[in-house]
Amino acid sequence: MNSSGAPIWNPFREGFLEDLHKDLRRYREQNPVHKGINKQWMLFKYQDVKRTLADPIFETISISQMTRAAAARFENSRKFDGLAEATEKWVLFLDPPEHTRVRTLISNAWKKFDLDAVIRRIVRIVLDRISERDEVDLIRDFAMPIPTQVMCKILGFPVEDFERIKTWSAAFELLLEQFVTVDTLLGANKRAEEFYSYTVRAVEAKTGKPEDDLISMILAENQKLDQPLSTSEIISIISQLIMAGIETTSGILGQSILELIRNPSQKEVLIGNGSITPTAIEELVRFTSPAPIALRTPLEDVEFGGHLIRKGEVIVAYIASANRDADVFDQPDVLKLDRQPNPHLAFGHGFHYCLGAALGRAEIRIAIPALLNKYPALDQHPEKQHVWEPHFSIRRLNSLPVVFR
Ligand code: HEM
Repeated sequence: MNSSGAPIWNPFREGFLEDLHKDLRRYREQNPVHKGINKQWMLFKYQDVKRTLADPIFETISISQMTRAAAARFENSRKFDGLAEATEKWVLFLDPPEHTRVRTLISNAWKKFDLDAVIRRIVRIVLDRISERDEVDLIRDFAMPIPTQVMCKILGFPVEDFERIKTWSAAFELLLEQFVTVDTLLGANKRAEEFYSYTVRAVEAKTGKPEDDLISMILAENQKLDQPLSTSEIISIISQLIMAGIETTSGILGQSILELIRNPSQKEVLIGNGSITPTAIEELVRFTSPAPIALRTPLEDVEFGGHLIRKGEVIVAYIASANRDADVFDQPDVLKLDRQPNPHLAFGHGFHYCLGAALGRAEIRIAIPALLNKYPALDQHPEKQHVWEPHFSIRRLNSLPVVFR
């Protein structure tokens, strides 16, 4: 609370992860534009969030810039070089014209994939393994392995390496967090270096001998550029795809199942149909919003809700809050699989719109009905609670014990 009694954004409040949407509603209704405990501007209303994502006057904040700035405070400023290098060309943190160049490169390579075939095969294998287990944790056994193995397959890494890839992806995810300790960052830096040596070998191998995978296709597209990207820049594109492709999709698959268990009538709709409509997919994406925030900084002074935000200040556009704004969504806290229209912002908006949205949607479309049809009585474990990952830049469960009675 501030001196006038209005609530102030504070992710350390007890219960913040579990009750996120209760808190977001209070901010939206009582203090929609304010500085949170991190001294950054927080925007909670749909129109404010959309404007921030759409208008190029709001630039992204380069993560390698932030990492290098953090590193400069230490005696040995090269301590975070691994991380800075591995994230140098994250398209999410580039602005035009560089953004356009790198994004076009990835999109051109990406077009050539039959995503459904890859996902179906992996979902089948993952569900077969689940049937062999005595105790099932839906995150460990379903929500995490599916997107990780799909990304391995698409990129051209051996699927057996998926546990290692998952560890690296989690290290990159930490970079999006604001409240991490130096020790945590040093650990992430070590993981980034391991990732680099692993991936550089794959890139070198595929340079001479292209295969039917995304890395080979990115390398081929790169050769068409007037000024091709360096190997380390290519590796940083791969690190972004790994992080963005695994952590968010894992968040959506796990949370969707939790929400469907909590809403049995909606779960029955899916089981009865044996499939899932595009409308239902959009509603699960809106409702779970696993990428809840986007960071931006204005290139000139701007005004939001009577507040002046100065050029260069940090803005946190709260996508998860926008997606529950009652000015735009009727009964926003109710999961309605037939909701229409549904102009959610969960995949972003404007020129940073999610590059993997088609993949994310396809994973939901294939994996969720497959699980529910195989285990229609799926329920939460009666004694073991679900646990949230203690992060706020990507919202996902760390554990969801279930039973199939
Ligand atoms: C399924 C769940 C997913 C959600 C909810 C999601 C959400 C988002 C959001 C909100 C943004 C924009 C962030 C901003 O404007 O600051 C974004 C960008 C991006 N996403 Fe996703 N994403 C998902 C899956 C994926 C997948 C599967 C991939 C790729 C493998 C991917 C790759 C990317 C990339 C590369 C960007 C940056 C695009 C750019 O800056 O031009 N995402 N995503």
